[in-house]
Amino acid sequence: MILALFGPPGSGKGTQAKALIQALGIPQLSTGDMLREAIKSGSELGKKAKEIMDLGRLVPDQVMIGMIQNRIQAPDCQKGFMLDGFPRTVAQAEALDAMLAGSGLKLDSVVSFEVNRKELVARLSGRLVCSNCGASYHEQSKLPRKQGICDLCGGVVAKRADDKPEVVENRLDTFLASTKPVAEYYQSKGRLKVIQAEGTESQVFERILKAIGGAPKG
Ligand code: AP5
Repeated sequence: MILALFGPPGSGKGTQAKALIQALGIPQLSTGDMLREAIKSGSELGKKAKEIMDLGRLVPDQVMIGMIQNRIQAPDCQKGFMLDGFPRTVAQAEALDAMLAGSGLKLDSVVSFEVNRKELVARLSGRLVCSNCGASYHEQSKLPRKQGICDLCGGVVAKRADDKPEVVENRLDTFLASTKPVAEYYQSKGRLKVIQAEGTESQVFERILKAIGGAPKG
């Protein structure tokens, strides 16, 4: 199965991806996590990406397309994969279709998360993230059991650099301007599954499973 999770910053893509990879047995390919790894490594790419991410803008298409093209050739992607945060522009969507078609594959579903803007701002302004495994927490609604320590891996839990209020507003505006046309692209191809992503994490999880026709048996 090849899936893409699509939606505005804070809509819960990363949170749901962590649960879905267990249920579906496919890896999560998060372009945001890949970029944060590049930043941590101190590479030239990481330095350039950080400047762009700190402004809430998009990293150039060619960089992101190359990153995904390499990643999907890895052995763990042979039985399928789940994209989280890619594609984010129509150019990325077209490039993905072309690279999959080259291997006789296609994207099965694009799950589009719908959450109102006020809720998105509330989620992002209180978000805490594990710097090791990427698990998400929240200052008001989902604190880790031990302050500052991830329940899942023991990594350090902290705020993300791009969750500052002014950057959050820019990221939401960027989503509306550049990323929303991606939904129209997949809608026109009959692959868009829109889900209401407000409610509890488990309610959203069940809606996603229903939208994609359930987890494979066995
Ligand atoms: P990326 O890391 O992909 O960030 P994003 O898309 O902005 O999404 P987020 O990770 O902020 O939110 P999420 O939807 O995963 O929500 P989460 O589950 O954490 O990208 C970062 C940057 O990298 C971009 O701005 C861009 O610069 C660059 N980039 C990445 N990909 C790119 C690409 N393809 N092209 C160009 N540039 C690219 O949840 C958020 C909070 O809500 C958490 O606190 C969580 O606990 C809470 N929460 C989750 N679900 C619920 C629920 N049901 N109810 C209540 N709270 C909930």
